[in-house]
Amino acid sequence: MYRYFCTLNQERIKMDFTKKNVVITGGSSGIGFATAKAFINAGANVWITGRNEEKLQRAKEALSSPNLHVVVSDTSNLEGIAVLESVVLESGSKVDVLFLNAGIATYAPIEHITEADFDAQFNTNVKGPLFTLQKLLPHLADGAAVLLTSSTVASASGLNSSVYSATKGALNKIAQVAANELAGRKIRVNLISPGPTETEGLDGVVTPEIKDYLATVTALQRLGSPNEIANAVLFLASDNASFITGTELLVDGGAINYILK
Ligand SMILES: NC(=O)c1ccc[n+]([C@@H]2O[C@H](COP(=O)([O-])OP(=O)(O)OC[C@H]3O[C@@H](n4cnc5c(N)ncnc54)[C@H](OP(=O)(O)O)[C@@H]3O)[C@@H](O)[C@H]2O)c1
Repeated sequence: MYRYFCTLNQERIKMDFTKKNVVITGGSSGIGFATAKAFINAGANVWITGRNEEKLQRAKEALSSPNLHVVVSDTSNLEGIAVLESVVLESGSKVDVLFLNAGIATYAPIEHITEADFDAQFNTNVKGPLFTLQKLLPHLADGAAVLLTSSTVASASGLNSSVYSATKGALNKIAQVAANELAGRKIRVNLISPGPTETEGLDGVVTPEIKDYLATVTALQRLGSPNEIANAVLFLASDNASFITGTELLVDGGAINYILK
């Protein structure tokens, strides 16, 4: 009997994405790359986007899978999103999982925020995911899963993060509304909110000293790894999460509300 339950349990937690089609924006490094790798290992066909072609080629070489496709597409503007849409259309595939992950952060006190930084972050983190979702909606399979990368900053009030936090707060609201609007097609929409996670993106925003400090604000006393965020994405994309929509999953090591020094 015990063995039966163990087997049953393993069956249930197994995440098989064989022949599923997955689109990941911002998949050439960090969380997006780790998630692409996890989906490839689970049998999926994966399309990843990024602005930098060389970075995408490096990602392709690193994963070395015929199931990985790279698309140079700047999803902060409608022209770039149209490139992604045409690639999906030409593939003739319906998208089973859409992971809207591309994002950038610039930290500055309110006195020093520039219009360019404001526009870049809102275009990449809010306008991009919203219009990518809109343009790919006709190409989503009924019953698809949409995941969006938010952040714990959406509900924290860290110093110097007003614009970045506001972009993630806006994203959370868009996702919650989308979950309601798309429920009729059985499309589930959920948010992943990582805490501080060891990526190129984080290295570009904070100093090594601040990274050490960020590790101390988690209950687990360390930064997260991109693979740990990917595990949560695959869970929410899988049938194991079939009754979960419109939610925000914090993957933050038990982070407490922090102030960026
Ligand atoms: N790392 C953390 O501590 C942390 C915590 C919470 C939330 N997040 C969120 O997690 C997501 C991924 O961040 P990450 O830390 O993994 O950063 P990352 O290593 O810098 O990866 C970002 C990815 O997005 C791509 N990208 C950026 N702007 C893009 C655009 N306009 N169009 C298409 N692709 C674009 C980048 O490639 P190109 O530069 O070539 O375009 C790269 O592939 C972001 O939404 C971020 O806000 C990160």
